[in-house]
Amino acid sequence: MAIEWRAADRQLHLHNAAVSYLLRVLDNGWLGHLHFGAPLAPGRSYGHLGAERFDGFSNRVGEPVPLELPTPGSGDYRVPAFVVEQPSGSTVLDLRYVGHEVRPGKPALPGLPSTYVEADSEAQTVEVTTRDGPSGLEAILRLTIFEGRPVIARSVTLANRGSERLVVRAAMSAVLDLPDHDWLLVQLSGTWARERHVHAAPLLPGRRSIGSVRGASGHEHNPVLLLRRPATTEEAGEALGISLVYSGSFLAEAEVEPRGTTRLRIGLQPDGFAWALEPGEELTLPEAILAWSGQGLGGLSDAWHALYRERLARGPWRDRPRPVLLNSWEGVYFDFDHPRLVEMARAAADLGIELFVLDDGWFGERDSDTSSLGDWVVDRRKLPGGLAPLAHDIEALGMRFGLWIEPEMVSPRSRLFAEHPDWAIGVTGRPRTESRNQLVLDLSRPEVVDHLETAIAGVLESAAISYVKWDMNRTITEPASAALPADRQGELFHRHILGVYELWRRLTDRFPDVLFESCAGGGGRFDPGLLAFAPQTWTSDDTDAAERLRIQWGTSLVYPLSAMGAHVSAVPNHQVGRVTPLATRAAVAFFGVLGYELDPRRLSDAERREIRDQIAFYRLRRDLFQGGRFVRLRSPFESDGNETAWMTVSADRRRAIVAHYRLLARPVPEVNRLRLRGLDPALTYRVTPWAATPGPGPTLHGGDELLTVGLTLEPIAAPAPPGPGDFSARLFDLEAVVG
Ligand code: GLA
Repeated sequence: MAIEWRAADRQLHLHNAAVSYLLRVLDNGWLGHLHFGAPLAPGRSYGHLGAERFDGFSNRVGEPVPLELPTPGSGDYRVPAFVVEQPSGSTVLDLRYVGHEVRPGKPALPGLPSTYVEADSEAQTVEVTTRDGPSGLEAILRLTIFEGRPVIARSVTLANRGSERLVVRAAMSAVLDLPDHDWLLVQLSGTWARERHVHAAPLLPGRRSIGSVRGASGHEHNPVLLLRRPATTEEAGEALGISLVYSGSFLAEAEVEPRGTTRLRIGLQPDGFAWALEPGEELTLPEAILAWSGQGLGGLSDAWHALYRERLARGPWRDRPRPVLLNSWEGVYFDFDHPRLVEMARAAADLGIELFVLDDGWFGERDSDTSSLGDWVVDRRKLPGGLAPLAHDIEALGMRFGLWIEPEMVSPRSRLFAEHPDWAIGVTGRPRTESRNQLVLDLSRPEVVDHLETAIAGVLESAAISYVKWDMNRTITEPASAALPADRQGELFHRHILGVYELWRRLTDRFPDVLFESCAGGGGRFDPGLLAFAPQTWTSDDTDAAERLRIQWGTSLVYPLSAMGAHVSAVPNHQVGRVTPLATRAAVAFFGVLGYELDPRRLSDAERREIRDQIAFYRLRRDLFQGGRFVRLRSPFESDGNETAWMTVSADRRRAIVAHYRLLARPVPEVNRLRLRGLDPALTYRVTPWAATPGPGPTLHGGDELLTVGLTLEPIAAPAPPGPGDFSARLFDLEAVVG
């Protein structure tokens, strides 16, 4: 890994064995972008790359190359990186190279989550300063290359070094010019209860954008853009992507211009955004992580998984095995009291559950979602002794105790709102739109962050609380802050998220041993920004096994298994009413951080036995289910979507677990061989079907056979008993045979 500067042709080359990123200072001082992707040899000039296009721009650019920091109004008519309004009203900029500095390691970004290194030898960073003379605006570009990883971290600071106020109207964390448009754009989109479905479509001339204008990254689109060649598969071919380490409103866009090149950009959502930079002020933009793979989409996922698990997630829980939990929500909703919870917990302990989580409804007078958010005091009607004796009783059963909170919110029916109505985001003199009967607190105000830190810390100190589920159940409307002047209202969304991060930082620093799980109406803020604070996220409120196949598949394109909370719930399922076998529900929820979300007192003896076996099976293989290399085999988004298959493999490739799911049973089953990936071809594996799902065995197979010929899936008989019928799952445990 190195960053090479060739003074002769003013070229910067970030390279390691897996990736190259190349830029060059053009003759007019602008930064030209030459290449991102396959590793190229150092010691060479690549100035000719990109030089063949854009002669139409020669009016200003002088050299026909793609640009690293494009701005509007100077002959590059594509989407810009920055729009900065100057006192004259003009947004024309002339950002010229001033200098650069290469440093070992990677600096942290002020106020923002980012990837990090534990030793300076893990990475190198170059900081390139560019400056617009007339306005005094500086754009400082930071690029980091990591040892052995096919990724580049990119961030930018905009600094006003001039003497007059500037207003930033658009600011992208990354812009990437590519020399062609022979790509499929892959996006992870959906809505509540069906987050991060995979959508892929060819790039066409013009712009294609996704994003959020809600103040949160959202259920609708994940802050990521992926490109794959039409022939790229999970295991082969070129793919690249940009993922944004941010949890607020964002924009991600691809533009194909008339000569067939593509520009990608990702960053803060410009709609409604305006950030004033007074002389001497700076604005640091969120980090973007660019990843490249020559080994298909799977290679791209491998890169993001490893980086996000190892160098974005932080704290003691990053590497710890995560407990199997029982969450009270779907089991009892708001209807509980101390004795009932202890009964539930007793039944849970008997199943092998390790952590009992009390969800919504324990504070204020919250018997429904119509009140009490903001009043973080125990509801003595339900828990007369408070949280401490409850936690004590649960710990006495051999489990840890966890709690749900939603700090960023306030109910209009709450004491907090009565005392501080102006702490809720809204426009003075206009009604505030309620969503789930609640309003969003204005975390751009330091006093609100201070208050919440005190209130939540008080709760966490009041009892033996080992886990927190931090929820966020609505997005922002009427975006206005009573604390910001009129000419700074366009800063609210970003300032609010900076306040959210500040609160997360303070609480996670103060309670390092608490395991935090983030949540936003399920997976409405499943993004890299929050992964930096909470190593796991509630993937979706949809706990139906069939729906979860698509949600977890899509999520896995970017996020590792250790980040995905996955629960087994009761049937008929509470979101879709579907009835699926208990074994299938577990076989899906195993791939991630396993939990149960049901009332264990209502289980039959047979179900109890089955769940006990499931948890025992999972606990023995927890390292694989939570930390193995996740390999996608058959996509629920392809073909007719009836089959899904995936696997997880240990780092030494000696152990793996393979899963195959089939939604609807069909007569006259076809021959079905599942080619595996990631195994060692030279090893022999014992393949043992999980006792709860059908299959003969154990059988012995060479790794080479499993990789090239495949694992033969015995036909599942037609839905007549004793066949498994619809929504079947099969799970195979693979272990290398010694000798
Ligand atoms: C959100 C979460 C659920 C649950 C409820 C409680 O919807 O996603 O898991 O915690 O809130 O109100």
